[in-house]
Amino acid sequence: MSDTERVALAFSGGLDTTVCVPLLEEEYGYDEVIGVTVDVGQPTPEFEEAEETAETLDLEHYVVDAKAEFAELCFDAVRANASYQGYPLGTALARPVIAEAILEVATEQGCSGLAHGSTGKGNDQLRFEAVWRDSDLEVIAPVRELGLTREFEQEYARERGLPIEGGDEGKYSIDTNLWSRSIEGSELEEPGYVPSEDIYEWTEAPTAETEEIEVGFEDGYPVSLNGEAIEPVELIETLNELAGGYGVGRSDIMEDRMLGLKVRENYEHPAATVLLNAHSALEDLVLTKEERAFKKQIDHEWSEKGYQGLVNAPLVDALEGFIEKTQKRVAGTVTIRFEGGQARPVGRESKYAVYSAEAASFNTEDVTGSIEQDDATGVAKYHGFQERLANRVIENNEE
Ligand code: ARG
Repeated sequence: MSDTERVALAFSGGLDTTVCVPLLEEEYGYDEVIGVTVDVGQPTPEFEEAEETAETLDLEHYVVDAKAEFAELCFDAVRANASYQGYPLGTALARPVIAEAILEVATEQGCSGLAHGSTGKGNDQLRFEAVWRDSDLEVIAPVRELGLTREFEQEYARERGLPIEGGDEGKYSIDTNLWSRSIEGSELEEPGYVPSEDIYEWTEAPTAETEEIEVGFEDGYPVSLNGEAIEPVELIETLNELAGGYGVGRSDIMEDRMLGLKVRENYEHPAATVLLNAHSALEDLVLTKEERAFKKQIDHEWSEKGYQGLVNAPLVDALEGFIEKTQKRVAGTVTIRFEGGQARPVGRESKYAVYSAEAASFNTEDVTGSIEQDDATGVAKYHGFQERLANRVIENNEE
């Protein structure tokens, strides 16, 4: 064991993680704290805040760019049509990516501990620790373990002269990354409270204006926009901007957290809405009825594990075996119209379309063989046979 004990802290520069820095030394006996901020597409001011706060605290600070990796995971989520109670999982999917990146820095920097500033009420503590507890490092959650309140933190920061001016995040608790922006807390917690427009930053209030775009898919992954190939991060950023302008991707849901709490959550996720809608419209065209129905169950299980931050579970790997097999045919294009705050699929095309103009119109021979219209007569005679029989038996036994 080295004589200097170092701990890596998931650092945002906000109040929670700022007070964690001195606490890790005073309460947990660490000699040095390093702060790690992982870039999963937060807005630039958040990095500036983290940078400035770190400087004032004299904190050794690392920034890791994990945008590309995060975008890849978001696209796996698209293949699984992933959504939890109407939420496309932005925060949830980002956590394992962030946790892995911090663990990597901690290992490189010879740390013996890992810390996060999550409270004991939320999901993030579980998602972070699911990754970290697979390592030999000590896992610390000062805010949860010391039972800190917001008021205590503010007081503590004032006493120590910790930099919190920039960290005064306003009345809402906001978490932003490439895939979604979540807004919670304050009066929004009241389920009956109708949020005002000012909680939204990514989306405009919908107007009468419309626009159509075309998204291309290969292997179930989005690969092009209006005919031009585009990388995942850029596609997501472009669609957030574009569809957000039409008010696409707002949701206001009652969310059941992992620990049982039911919480009112507001989200913005224009790109996720566009890509999820487009993807499932293409699946509707190329998969058989039974594949579509069965995949709903697969997608549901994937989404549950995604919400839990357990995307590395063996179950997810197995589910992806099925997903991979079906996505080979999810290739083609979907036209999406932004209209009335919706991203509505209005056209779809694929060489794997389970659709044949000839078969549908009963013209000549095609892949279905030589089926004649009249061949349906026998089927029509039998259709509902058991129901007719059962109803007759019921009637006969009624006095
Ligand atoms: N409830 C969501 C989740 O658990 C998002 C939480 C985001 N955090 C925030 N402070 N707004 O995934």
